[in-house]
Parts: sequence; C-alpha cells; structure tokens
Amino acid sequence: MKQRIFSGAQPTGRLHLGNYLGALKNWVALQDEYDSIFCIVNLHALTLPQDPKTLRQKTLDLARVYLAAGVDPEKATIFIQSDVAAHAELTWVLACIARMGELERMTQFKDKAKGSAERAGVGLFSYPVLMASDILLYQTNLVPVGQDQKQHLELTRDLAERFNRDFGETFTIPEVYIPKAGARIKSLQDPTKKMSKSDENEAGAIFLDDDADTIAKKIKRAVTDSGTEITFDETRPAIHNLLTIYQLVTGKSEQECVENFSGKGYGQFKSELAEAVVEYLRPFQERISAYDDDALNAILKTGAEKARSIASV
Ligand code: TYM
Repeated sequence: MKQRIFSGAQPTGRLHLGNYLGALKNWVALQDEYDSIFCIVNLHALTLPQDPKTLRQKTLDLARVYLAAGVDPEKATIFIQSDVAAHAELTWVLACIARMGELERMTQFKDKAKGSAERAGVGLFSYPVLMASDILLYQTNLVPVGQDQKQHLELTRDLAERFNRDFGETFTIPEVYIPKAGARIKSLQDPTKKMSKSDENEAGAIFLDDDADTIAKKIKRAVTDSGTEITFDETRPAIHNLLTIYQLVTGKSEQECVENFSGKGYGQFKSELAEAVVEYLRPFQERISAYDDDALNAILKTGAEKARSIASV
C-alpha cells in the first residue's frame, strides 16, 4: 500500500513563488509515489477577519491554483476543509490534551498576535491544533511544507504521541518533508524575512499571477548584497535567495548556476532570472483559466466525499 501525504494552504492573500517552490511544486512531484490529499484550509483562514463572500471565492480560486500547478484530481484528493466536519471535531479532542505552554511557544502565533496575546483570538492561538487534526485524521505518513511550518509539525507529532500513549495506538506519527532548497524563499526587499502573502510591501513577493512586466520590475528592484560575485554564499542572503530561485525554476545544479553567472554582473543576472521565472510560471498561468467554477465544484465534491470516508474510519 502507498504511504500517504497530506498538505494544505490557506485561501488568503495571493499565492506567491515561495508557496509554489516551498510547497506546491513538491506536492506535484510526490503525487505519483504517494496517496495524496491536498486540502484548502478555509477554517484556518477564519483565525483572522474575513469577508464571507470573498473567502468563498478565494477558496475556489485556490483549488484552481492547485490544479494549474499540476495537482492531478485523478491521482490526488483535493477538498475544502470545512466540507469535512471531522476536522473541527478532532480539534476539540486534541485541544483537551494540548498544553497552553506549548501553544504559547509557537513562533507564528507570536508573530501574528503582534505581541498582544491578550487581544489575539482564541482561534489564532489554537490554530496549530486544527492543523494537527488535519494531518492526524488521515493517518498521514509525510507532510510536505515549507520551513515555517516545521514547528507546527513538531507539535502535531507530540500530540499524536501523547494521545497514543494515554489512550492506545490511534494515530500514525507523521514525518515532515522540507525541501533542501526553497524551504524558505525570502522577501525580495528584505532577505531576513520570508516572502509572505501578508507583507505590506508587495515588491517583496512575486505573486503567481504577476505578469511578465511586473515580475521583471520586482526582480530589477530586488535588494542585493555588497560584493559582486554570484554564488551560494549564506553570508550574502539576498544573492543566495535570488540564486536559489534561479536554481529551482531552471532545474540546474548549484554548480551550473554559479558557472552560468561567473564573470557576469548583477544586471545580467537579474535579467536572466526574470526571464527564467516568467518562463517557469507561463504554463501555470496558461492553465489557471482552464477550470470553470462548475468543473472545480465537481472535483471538490468528489474530493470531500473521499476525504470524509477516510476521516470517518
Ligand atoms: P500557508 O497557506 O501559509 O502556506 C502554504 C505553504 O507554503 C509554504 N510557504 C513557503 N515556502 C517557502 N518559502 C516561503 N516564503 C513560504 N511561505 C509559505 C508553507 O510552509 C506551506 O507549506 N498552516 C499552513 C496550512 C496548513 C497545513 C495543514 C499544511 C493547514 N493545515 C496541514 C500542511 C498540513 C499554512 O498556513 O500554510
């Protein structure tokens, strides 16, 4: 029997190249080898204020993104989190064994609560418990995510082990799958921060629906480091980040990337990078309009039925 992977993304903001290279690209690469379940986590989105109509539209749009990225509904189960009630039910049970202290340590909570736990929503606080439920409901073996989700995965494993110890073997203990390159794509404007949907400075992120001109402009304006060499040098995070993006979108080895830019300046590097990113996103952008709402709804309905039947075992 195939091992199972589970992953998901929130239908908030616009998806960016970090989401694509850190997560979606790997989902597509793994879907042949694994029994794959990909969820649109709309309940997670409720942890911050949402307009219901916009959220519904964004949920459908995210399904479109999964498909355009190459997730194949014939191979993988794609569904909306709120269509399977068991996610919310298991969240309650796991919340009863989770500890306040371990949730308080979650760096994403600290970031999103912006230093004021007093005023943060309880949903934001217990967000990782819902994420643990997503994963554990399906006896998941492997969870492909970017680096920022690692701590949530550790909590998921701790909760599963605690539950199994106290109530008998119930949950598979999941492993995290974090890619070697691309697990934390940085902002083009500040390479100490991750590329993010919620960054106020849009110039920091390449969104999946940016046109060729916008992509070229953002890359041209991307900050660089002092020095001139274009190499994978961790002490020069801006160039390291841009070169990592180049490596991932071209599929070249580190050595080939460095050789390609040996003796070339930042200007030439940025124009080749922009061209490579545009080419990489082209097939995705062409496919994004291929699915109308009816086709999407049919795929999501089948996905929800499949997910419900697995979750209820
Ligand atoms: P979300 O929606 O913030 O992001 C979706 C995926 O994109 C990855 N990612 C990145 N990877 C590389 N570089 C970046 N700059 C970058 N930014 C985001 C994220 O790590 C993620 O894999 N809590 C999750 C959604 C979730 C989930 C789950 C994931 C809910 N339940 C169960 C896996 C399993 C989230 O908010 O992802």
